[in-house]
Amino acid sequence: MELGVTGTIFLTLCVTLFLYVITWRRQLRSKNLPPGPPTLPILGTIMHVSTTEMPQSLVKLSQQYGPVMSIFIGNNPMVILVGYDCVKEALVDHSDVFTARGNTFFASSVFKDYGIVLSNGERWKLLRRFSLTTLRNFGMGKRGIGERIQEEAHFLVERFRNNGEHPFDPTDSLRLAVSNVICSIVFGERFDYEDEEFMTLLSLLQEMFSLLVSPWGILLHLFPKTSTYIPGPHRKVFRNLDQLKEFVLQAVENHKKTIDVNCPRDFIDSFLIKMEEEKDNPDTEFHFENMFGTVIDLFFAGIETTSTTLRNALLILLKYPDVAKKIQDEIDKVIGQSRSPALEDRVHMPYTDAVIHEIQRFADIVPMGIPHAASKDTVFRGYNIPKNTTVSPLLTSVLKDPKYFEQPDKFDPRHFLDKKGHFKNNEAFLPFSIGKRSCLGEGLARMEIFLMLTYLLQKFHLKSNKAPEDLEITPEPGKNGVVARTYQLYVEPR
Ligand code: HEM
Repeated sequence: MELGVTGTIFLTLCVTLFLYVITWRRQLRSKNLPPGPPTLPILGTIMHVSTTEMPQSLVKLSQQYGPVMSIFIGNNPMVILVGYDCVKEALVDHSDVFTARGNTFFASSVFKDYGIVLSNGERWKLLRRFSLTTLRNFGMGKRGIGERIQEEAHFLVERFRNNGEHPFDPTDSLRLAVSNVICSIVFGERFDYEDEEFMTLLSLLQEMFSLLVSPWGILLHLFPKTSTYIPGPHRKVFRNLDQLKEFVLQAVENHKKTIDVNCPRDFIDSFLIKMEEEKDNPDTEFHFENMFGTVIDLFFAGIETTSTTLRNALLILLKYPDVAKKIQDEIDKVIGQSRSPALEDRVHMPYTDAVIHEIQRFADIVPMGIPHAASKDTVFRGYNIPKNTTVSPLLTSVLKDPKYFEQPDKFDPRHFLDKKGHFKNNEAFLPFSIGKRSCLGEGLARMEIFLMLTYLLQKFHLKSNKAPEDLEITPEPGKNGVVARTYQLYVEPR
């Protein structure tokens, strides 16, 4: 049988490709990377990892490949850490290697390497330390952070009350309240919920957030340089960033006119003071670009996370009215109706504390964590991890680790209560991750969730037009576990 010229070329190509794949796989195996599903050049492990249910599919794969495994995004390996023991061992015991962030192309093309979330080295260290101190500094201006949240919780309650008995989707109200807390910390003022400037700021942030998590955002993430030349909605990210910069610049100019260096009112004042202190240092990290980067980080990292947690919390309490009732009993006993909930109340409210922990564990809103990177070649649990490899702590596998939680997939506040009804901590409670790179806003977020939730339950019974058994509290399917369900509720004054 004659093959002909076309047949010969085709056969040669197939044999070459086959040999190439075999050699490539052999080379990979010789590198002793963590095990993982079969991979192909260029395509990586795309056939084995779901793009719409990624966190769950990775947990499933780990049953076959173990707690340290590697998948391939194109030709690049990505190490996945599964379960509490492994995540803690990497991020805490090997923090010298796994504290870095990777994907510097994206960071530098979109955020120009400024700010905290995506930066590394001295810049990250200085800005993180400065921001933590400023956030922790309860004496900032005349009012502490707790007081600012209480004030916002009051406006949130009024906004809920204005809906009367009409069912409404709480998403926007929660987002407005949480954003205003950050505005109050950063700019020293909260905005009216109808304020035009505030609306513009939020819509710019919201649009950027939606773009960055959309397929266009993924394109920008994977091909940051090339994708800036491709037409598409992702280019709005840069336009929005410019507008946001104008907004912050204007705020800085206004602050400069009224600043009292002995009494900083907010984050911008504190940063301006630091800029003045370091004005003779040519290498200072305290300049406008880093101030802007850090402010954007606080908004980005703080708004969707905290407001989504609160959105999940209300839905879970609609599903379990007996749990809401028990929290209200505790509120009546410890706080009563004559004063607002305060942070000091939390230690006297073990049931409420346990429910909030369980809501965060169950809601699992950052299931894949934020990727880290290896800052040098290293050997971890017997496998080689080359410098700059992306390392992803799979937080969902920690929050639902069967070794640490009796019924990981069930909502049950008893995960955080002992037999006597006292609050019981669990080391695998890591919604904010762990180690030197863990969430910088953890303290703030925990205050917001406690104060806003207790304030709402002090004033209202939460109601739904649906029967509890018809309410679905797991995230939207096919959205990688990060999109919460939409629902309606109404409130009945207590
Ligand atoms: C329920 C609310 C929140 C959750 C679940 C959450 C979760 C997380 C997680 C998982 C990380 C990644 C940690 C890592 O890389 O290992 C992170 C980082 C971060 N979060 Fe949060 N976060 C929340 C609220 C906030 C708030 C309110 C702020 C500030 C206003 C904030 C600021 C940050 C920053 C700046 C980082 C980057 C830290 C760094 O790279 O050093 N977060 N957060």
